[in-house]
Amino acid sequence: MLTETPPLHPRRRPEILAAAQSLLAEGAWTRLEGAPETEAALRAFHGGEREVWWVSSGTAALEAILLGHGIGPGDEILTTPYTWGATVSAILAIGAVPLFADIDPLTGLLDPADLPARLTPRTKAILGVHLFGRPFAADRLRTLCDSRGLLLFEDGSQAHGARLHGRRVGAFGHAAAFSCMAYKPLGGTEGGYALFADPAAAERAYLHGKHPRGLAPERAAALAAQGLLDSLQLGWRPCALGAELARLALPWLDEENAARRANAEHLRALLADVPGVSLPPEPPGAESVHHLMSLLYDERATDLPRADFLARLRPLGVETFVYIPTPIHRLRRLDWTDPAQPPVFWHRQLREAGIRYADTRLPGAERRSATSFEMAWNWTEPAPRAMEQLASALRAAARR
Ligand SMILES: Cc1ncc(COP(=O)(O)O)c(C=O)c1O
Repeated sequence: MLTETPPLHPRRRPEILAAAQSLLAEGAWTRLEGAPETEAALRAFHGGEREVWWVSSGTAALEAILLGHGIGPGDEILTTPYTWGATVSAILAIGAVPLFADIDPLTGLLDPADLPARLTPRTKAILGVHLFGRPFAADRLRTLCDSRGLLLFEDGSQAHGARLHGRRVGAFGHAAAFSCMAYKPLGGTEGGYALFADPAAAERAYLHGKHPRGLAPERAAALAAQGLLDSLQLGWRPCALGAELARLALPWLDEENAARRANAEHLRALLADVPGVSLPPEPPGAESVHHLMSLLYDERATDLPRADFLARLRPLGVETFVYIPTPIHRLRRLDWTDPAQPPVFWHRQLREAGIRYADTRLPGAERRSATSFEMAWNWTEPAPRAMEQLASALRAAARR
């Protein structure tokens, strides 16, 4: 029986509560200039070489990096079908077309070997997702993109601070997007940020969504003189409080991530004698941060369908869910040929591009959706007793 509970996330440290209170008391509920202090802290965290832009959400950050690089109608973006839908809906929202490559069914991450054959003459970029806090092979994908003249984008929304070959994720692509809604490893209230290697791409993105007041005064004056600065904008203005909470949580992130990792490795060792349940191997060179704990389930070892196994866990105090029960390319609302569904704006662009995902074969993603289960993983302090309780509950549920 799991009786231990993880610390509240994001952590309510006294200095965080005090700073939030003074921000509200000062009346800065909204700041038209955005969040320059949070951007500066994130810039330093990510190595100091990237433009950082704090926006209203991870979805907005994804749209910003796509638009900043000139992606638009008719362009294809190759991405993973095994992700939170926002990765894909951001592509659709700017008029582009998502195409999907397969994943490694163990790790749940894009399989670099599957990508080359999926590229078409219309492919402009690859958008990989560091899902569940696990880095995808961004170094290998960057080599592929460079050799084909493509852009590489990273969705790091679940992986703040995760590393690949010693470098933090977000450093491999031409740009990266992160969500900072409260459940994420770096969470405030709502919010997100974009990293740009190319300042010109960042500025193109600002022109789509940054309120005029947020630009440096001399740049704003120059753009205004060209007639480019006006009130047309996509509404990515952030919540001041969310930005401040994320800034104050940032100094603790590495320590919290280390605890997430240590707890995960402890669980991995304990799972050695739990039939049918395992933690997938770390991707080569990766230091994952385990935003959600995604475990593999093999019903042949238990003679118990996954749903029954998960139902047995609940009374043992273990809440689980299947995070991606259907790979994105199989979602009904992407099928524009189905006349019975309510209209969705993206049907038109998929129809015009002649894309029918029913024709797409992605066996790795189908298998992953059918053979894993997930749980929240905000164990941001060492929790050896909780790991032992969790493993015992899993062992009890797996008993024939
Ligand atoms: C992988 C991934 N991408 C994008 C997003 C979108 O972020 P937001 O909800 O802040 O818009 C999320 C989280 O919700 C996510 O998990």
